[in-house]
Amino acid sequence: MKGIVLAGGSGTRLRPLTQVLSKQLLPVFDKPLIYYPMSVLMLAGIRDILVISSPDHMEQYQGLIDDGSGLGINVQYAVQEEPRGLAEALIIGREFVGDDQVALVLGDNIFHGHDFAGLLREQVAQLSGATLFGYSVADPERYGVAVLDDGGRLVDIEEKPANPRSSLAVTGLYLYDSRACEYAAESRPSARGELEITEVNQRFIKDGQARLVNLGRGTTWLDAGTHESLLEAANYVQVLQKRQGVQIACLEEVAYRMGYLDHQGLEAAIERVGSASDYGAYLRRVGAEEPLPDPVGRG
Ligand code: TTP
Repeated sequence: MKGIVLAGGSGTRLRPLTQVLSKQLLPVFDKPLIYYPMSVLMLAGIRDILVISSPDHMEQYQGLIDDGSGLGINVQYAVQEEPRGLAEALIIGREFVGDDQVALVLGDNIFHGHDFAGLLREQVAQLSGATLFGYSVADPERYGVAVLDDGGRLVDIEEKPANPRSSLAVTGLYLYDSRACEYAAESRPSARGELEITEVNQRFIKDGQARLVNLGRGTTWLDAGTHESLLEAANYVQVLQKRQGVQIACLEEVAYRMGYLDHQGLEAAIERVGSASDYGAYLRRVGAEEPLPDPVGRG
């Protein structure tokens, strides 16, 4: 499966922060926002990732993540000239995805929770059609809202409905089989002039090929699109990391635990980060843990 992180957009709700800076490079406590959705893809087992951003910010993402080899993954980049909608990511990424399945994640979405990674890997393993993730929110009218039938099957998605038929918002993580890019290419711009991801999802729903997985109370889903939600996300990360002593979305740690980096690779990553920051000091502690079992039995 391939992964796409969509990290463009205009970030108008975060002005003036986003006047010259890219939203997904803004800090969420101790790391750039994009680390959180990147960690989701890596935890899902994905090692081929396309980062899509606007022309103005591309170089900064390349400077930050480079070709991914420092994380034991392969990262490529593509430009979205204008923020023409989420579904355009699947058109821009069409060649990159090829005949493979794809996980699309929005660059400002944060997922965290009990065995979220396990749930994700399970869903990836059994994917056919589209798998979307629903999250019960207090204000569904702000989101795309899932409509389920009596059997719990996904039958519709309503965009920002005045009278929501459920409290389940559709989150910014979408698992698709290879038809998604074709559906995106066939979709027509909405009245706002955007290629809506809901259009693509509706095609899968029409074919009876879309499922919604309810993330439930054990998982936290945050988006960091406004000043308040950005601060709330930072507070959430700070409180949990301090209390539990483990990092959320520390990419080098994820790479190491997923086996993308061996111990030597982790040591090199630690050198790059340095130990002046708490993040670097944490990585040093991860590196000093009992080494993972040596596959040929020497360690
Ligand atoms: P939004 O938060 O819907 O849009 P935005 O980031 O442009 O912000 P605002 O509403 O404040 O103007 O986008 C969700 C995510 O998708 C976010 O990470 C930006 C990204 N995005 C793109 O990369 N390209 C696009 O064309 C759009 C619409 C969004």
